[in-house]
Amino acid sequence: MKTLKQFSPLFLNIPAMFLATCLVAWLIIPNKFAMVATVALYVFVAFCLFIILLCIVLGGYGAYYVVAYLRLRLQAQSLEASIIRLQKGETIVTPQYARFNIIRGDTPAPIEQSQLLLPEPGQVTTLPDKVLLPDIMPLNGPNLNEIVLGVGLNGDGQAQAITAPLSKLVHVAVGGSSGWGKSVLLRSLAYQVALAPEQAELALIDLEAATFSPFARSNKLRYSIADTETDANNILVDLLGELKKRKEFYKKYPTVESLESYNLIADHKLPMIALMIDESTALLGDKTIEANIRMLALRARKYGIYAVLGGQDWKASSLDSAIRNQLSTKIQLKAQSKAQSRVLLDDAAAADIEVPGRAYAVLPGQPMAEIQTPYISLPMLMKALVDTGAMAQPAPVAEMVIEQKPPTEKQARAAELFNDGLEVNEIANIVYGRDGGKQLDLVKSAIEKYA
Ligand SMILES: Nc1ncnc2c1ncn2[C@@H]1O[C@H](COP(=O)(O)OP(=O)(O)OP(=O)(O)O)[C@@H](O)[C@H]1O
Ligand SMILES: [Mg+2]
Repeated sequence: MKTLKQFSPLFLNIPAMFLATCLVAWLIIPNKFAMVATVALYVFVAFCLFIILLCIVLGGYGAYYVVAYLRLRLQAQSLEASIIRLQKGETIVTPQYARFNIIRGDTPAPIEQSQLLLPEPGQVTTLPDKVLLPDIMPLNGPNLNEIVLGVGLNGDGQAQAITAPLSKLVHVAVGGSSGWGKSVLLRSLAYQVALAPEQAELALIDLEAATFSPFARSNKLRYSIADTETDANNILVDLLGELKKRKEFYKKYPTVESLESYNLIADHKLPMIALMIDESTALLGDKTIEANIRMLALRARKYGIYAVLGGQDWKASSLDSAIRNQLSTKIQLKAQSKAQSRVLLDDAAAADIEVPGRAYAVLPGQPMAEIQTPYISLPMLMKALVDTGAMAQPAPVAEMVIEQKPPTEKQARAAELFNDGLEVNEIANIVYGRDGGKQLDLVKSAIEKYA
């Protein structure tokens, strides 16, 4: 959001000044000039009325000129933004931008200093309460070298996208109390792997069969999504087998230390594998599963197999220290208590979080930073997966597992406008043509379900 101060309607004061002058003249001029003064007064009054009339007529068109002028200003500043409402005050006209403004460099962004959200010079920005994933995606689209984790503030108080190569994040732990954004974040990460142009595979475990269901037909899926402990363990066992196989392949190239260097010299390239587990803390209670995850966490990095583990109640007492030491990236959303916050972060800060999606993140080699993780709604996600051809084939209706009924066109539009920052009554006007009680209820219900 940014305010431009423009268009002081000073000219509106001119008729008032004329009027005042006439009145003063009429009051102070001696009698012998009364005649002349009266005539002058009539001329002035007529002139003033003409000016006022002119203002009224032009006023109707004024908004168009203001909008055109602001568009030029936006273009001049290379902003991708649309003007959605003009607020006229006494001396200012304020445009409200529909979404965050992102300055993108021409060259691929280096990890920490990538896309800057627009601040005025010297202006300190605060973290936004909601950031849409598509708005902070790398210019060249999702890719494994620029996995977007959210938006943070740099030393100058400027908001910037936080991105890093998946191979540098290595194993990622995502913590957070119920309802503060774990599944949304895991989905955002899976989405980026699913759409990445590089060779990559997704191994998804989701005991509640909710988080990853949009990816059920992804052409990057290595196994069907596991929603039972048995299936989950089968995946882990198969990945350990893959690890052994890769170890054999690597033997031919003794200097190779990573999947990237292996793929540079080997004839047969191997895909990166992202293992993502939602509610993993529940699974870690199973000793066999815990042992397999530990083995993968300890040994899989060299072979390009990375784990992203989401969980509500990471417990210092039960989190195996071997696993904990391998979790190079930690993202803690709202924690239930200071003690809970310390388990992943060694810091109590996450207990005070009050915004869904807000988190503290520790990336390899970097100090803890506050970030706003990206948001993507289920309809947006499904649409993007279908539009980009990231689905292997259309799902037979009976097999399509999604959390809820797909939205109607109007519901999807309402949710989209809400995500773009519009108010409920504005959305009702745009989508349903009115903002009466019924229309407002329809909008609220669409937002609740699909935004
Ligand atoms: N990054 C985000 N930005 C803004 N709002 C968010 C974000 N992530 C989640 N939310 C809001 O929080 C709600 C709950 O998110 P989510 O389902 O990811 O929580 P969760 O931590 O997985 O909860 P549970 O433990 O119950 O599964 C979402 O429906 C959304 O309204
Ligand atoms: Mg969840």
